[in-house]
Amino acid sequence: MPRFLHNVSDLIRRVLFLARPYGRKKLALVFFLSLAQGIFQVIGVTSIFPFLAIAADPERIRHSQFGLRFLALLPPMGNRALLITAGVIAIVGLLLSNGFNLLAEYARARYANNFAHWLRVRLLRRMASQPYGYFLQRNSGDLLRKVMNDVGTYTSGVLLPLLDSIARAVIAALLLATLFFVQPVIAVSAALGFGSFYVIVFRLLARKRREVNERSQRAFGGSYRDAQQMLGGIKPIKVHRAEEHFLGRFAGHSAVVAQMSNQMPIIANSTRYLIEPLAFGGLVLAVVVLAVQGRDFSDILPNLGVMAVAGYRLLPNLQLLYSQVTQFTSIRYSLDEVFEEFAAAEHDKESGNVEISLGKSCPIEWRDAITLDEVSFIYPGTDRPALDRFSLTIQKNMSIGFIGPTGSGKSTLIDLLLGLHRPTSGRVLIEGKPLTPELVPSWQATIGYVPQEIFLIDDTIARNIALGVPDDEIDNARLQEVCAMAQILDFIEIELRDGFQTTVGERGVRLSGGERQRLGLARALYHRPSLLILDEATSALDVATEAKLLEALRSLAGKLTMVVAAHRLSALANCDQLIDLSKMRVAANVSRRHDFVER
Ligand SMILES: Nc1ncnc2c1ncn2[C@@H]1O[C@H](COP(=O)(O)OP(=O)(O)OP(=O)(O)O)[C@@H](O)[C@H]1O
Ligand SMILES: [Mg+2]
Repeated sequence: MPRFLHNVSDLIRRVLFLARPYGRKKLALVFFLSLAQGIFQVIGVTSIFPFLAIAADPERIRHSQFGLRFLALLPPMGNRALLITAGVIAIVGLLLSNGFNLLAEYARARYANNFAHWLRVRLLRRMASQPYGYFLQRNSGDLLRKVMNDVGTYTSGVLLPLLDSIARAVIAALLLATLFFVQPVIAVSAALGFGSFYVIVFRLLARKRREVNERSQRAFGGSYRDAQQMLGGIKPIKVHRAEEHFLGRFAGHSAVVAQMSNQMPIIANSTRYLIEPLAFGGLVLAVVVLAVQGRDFSDILPNLGVMAVAGYRLLPNLQLLYSQVTQFTSIRYSLDEVFEEFAAAEHDKESGNVEISLGKSCPIEWRDAITLDEVSFIYPGTDRPALDRFSLTIQKNMSIGFIGPTGSGKSTLIDLLLGLHRPTSGRVLIEGKPLTPELVPSWQATIGYVPQEIFLIDDTIARNIALGVPDDEIDNARLQEVCAMAQILDFIEIELRDGFQTTVGERGVRLSGGERQRLGLARALYHRPSLLILDEATSALDVATEAKLLEALRSLAGKLTMVVAAHRLSALANCDQLIDLSKMRVAANVSRRHDFVER
């Protein structure tokens, strides 16, 4: 089976690649515990042999070579005492072997679970360190499934069964070797018989197994996405009465998952019900053969005992080995999913793509200007530039307004200023220094940013404004200050019963659009940015509130540089300079504002 062996060696290579950074020693320890488990099992089985032999015929044992050597180790004793000693040895042997079994199983499970925890954290961290563009290309449901589902499936469905099956293979080999000592012919025929039985069944079911797994994997992914999209977009889905459509799709996928799961035990366990009669038949045959040879019953009994106990250990072992190999070869996709992410990380390191460092950075003290020098940007997968050789200088403490029809590239320009995208060509310069990935974290710490769509976490207003600041470090006076500026302080203090401790619901569903926007603005102001970027940040406010808000921002003039993108001219009332992205030309000053047609 070269293909099977190739697959398994590739699987082991990938498993080792993932496990190495977690600790070679831990993996080695678990592996050796598994080996020791095999040895202890054999000790358990063989410890019964002297007892059975003494029970059948003590005199024969006393005169056999093995018996003589064994008895020399013990003080002289009568037959009954000998029988009891042998019995005690057998019981202790079994206890030891089972105790060790438990210990090894615990060690394996512990290793796999802690490893899963470590992998989950590393995987999510790795995702978080990706540039923003990475997330534009992926479905968050798929990423979530990798972290929450695939890692667990990998450790409990591939890694554990793989470690376990190595132990099982060792146990089976040792049991067969023991059997070989007692009855070489029977051992060889058992090895050949059982071995070929499992290999043949494994190969016969290969295609079925692949089909079941591919279908259930696809259906699982589908059901996950359908449920997530329906629950995430419940409002429009309810209004458009599309619930049944999503439920139907979900039910379709879920039914396939059930159907496929129903077939799994048949594929993995059907061999068990065939192998038991087969093995018992073999045992009967062995006894008959021994009897026909004219062997004495006292000779047959201990051999039979060992064979039965070895069979009682060997068979479940073989069966488990089979079902585990079936399992980890079938669901190795989970390994591949996790592996790909880390292999990509490794590749990035080699090709010099730095991951974005996480954690807080110190803001940049800048005095001069931000310059966009012939900046172009093309989104991956498109060929039309969203921004084409755009140049601009933003002087410190000035405010600049971007205007232009929808889709003209305002948000793209802002994302470039934020360092979320790297220009396809051209440069973004901060006081003449290019905005490199290394500079981005501290540059972002300099900026207060209000996006076009405000994201709120399902938590209190205070935690939403001081996003990511630990509770005991939240500055309540500052909260009040920024909320007053954002024209939301009265609402929070007067209308909300719990004030800053009110929870806003998932994505802020318990607030109005304008309240969400003003919270977004308060959040942007909280860290005293020297550059404030507003992307349609006042579009949901009435004109009077918007004017009050802009007035409050004007009071910061001289301390704040502002970049504002908007459709409504009212939002740009404070700007010293307006730039029309549709015409790509700079309007000299505010007095020409009326040149722009309001949309
Ligand atoms: N992730 C993306 N992948 C591919 N194309 C994109 C992506 N994001 C935006 N675009 C395209 O880039 C162009 C500029 O989009 P952008 O969001 O910058 O426009 P905008 O001026 O902010 O529009 P609006 O006023 O509607 O907010 C649009 O044509 C849009 O379709
Ligand atoms: Mg936009």
